[in-house]
Amino acid sequence: MQHKDVIILGIETSCDDTSAAICKNDTIFSCVISGQEVHKIYGGVVPELSSRAHQQNIVPVIDKAIKNAGISIDDIDAVAFTRGPGLMGALLVGCSFAKGFALAKNIPLIEVDHLHAHVLAHFIKEQNEDQKFPSFPFLSLLVSGGNSQIIIVEDYLKMKIIGKTIDDAAGEAYDKCAKIMGLEYPGGPLIDQYAQHGNRFKFKFSKPKVAKFDYSFSGLKTSFLYFIRDRLKEDAQFIENNLFDLCASLQYTINDTLITKLLAAAKETGINQLALSGGVSANSGLRSQLTEIAEKFGYETFFTKPKYATDNAAMVAVAGYFKHKEKMFVGQDVVPYAS
Ligand code: KG4
Repeated sequence: MQHKDVIILGIETSCDDTSAAICKNDTIFSCVISGQEVHKIYGGVVPELSSRAHQQNIVPVIDKAIKNAGISIDDIDAVAFTRGPGLMGALLVGCSFAKGFALAKNIPLIEVDHLHAHVLAHFIKEQNEDQKFPSFPFLSLLVSGGNSQIIIVEDYLKMKIIGKTIDDAAGEAYDKCAKIMGLEYPGGPLIDQYAQHGNRFKFKFSKPKVAKFDYSFSGLKTSFLYFIRDRLKEDAQFIENNLFDLCASLQYTINDTLITKLLAAAKETGINQLALSGGVSANSGLRSQLTEIAEKFGYETFFTKPKYATDNAAMVAVAGYFKHKEKMFVGQDVVPYAS
């Protein structure tokens, strides 16, 4: 059966990015992201400041997304928003706006799970671009600031988590180790940048041993802290003198851990398509390390564009489209969930 075209407004406010996007079916027409500089000096996201910034940003960001898409507010057929997981105060801003908008325009309201949206980011279609999409089933490695999961994706709306972190997420490992080296938040992109000039085999850090397809990164963070502390006793300039090699070695350890489990999952499930999403999937070392290994073993790899790897509303709008097709709407009594 042919579906009528639908235009969806997507809203994402789960953490420290206020984002709005417009899609027509699964094709994206605009995506506006407003980051929050205010957290940098604190070395991490401050929830109360995040909610306040979302309050300030939400109307201008949505207004810009509608204008950039070249549509009128009356063209919007449905509104999709991130319901959770995330920071409660931050989620409430997007959820309340979406509810008010849906009520005022008398259009359907669609709730989207943040992690589900990260996985569906692989299906964001660009206008006038030839793209390659994974086919079902595929294995998704979702690696962000709050999550590290291996998921069997059976369909747009059917997924099964087969591995996850038992403590810190991969993004947290990047950010916390960056903080130990005195780098700004979020440290992941900086480590990526510095690692490109370093020797990944210069320092060896122990890799976590956890059952099956689960991850653990808190031990690595602690051993990195002790390692740096001990070296600084011998040489006060140790970090400055070895920054590139430290970043390269740390990045290699985190990425190797991620890839080893993903390949083990691929072997056991017999699934040969591997798709990476979430903020950490923007890491250039992770992309090249996985591509190299995947070629050797005959796996096909898929990476979301870096702009859709980190938090964005395009993935929420497109996830909203797949739920709209199934008429999965929610009522005005919907509330966000933090975890
Ligand atoms: O997906 P995301 O924007 O937010 C969450 O839903 O958590 O991911 C943010 C995380 C942060 O930990 C950030 O340091 C990390 O993604 N990140 C990176 C890179 N870009 C973002 N980590 C390593 N290398 C990068 N290039």
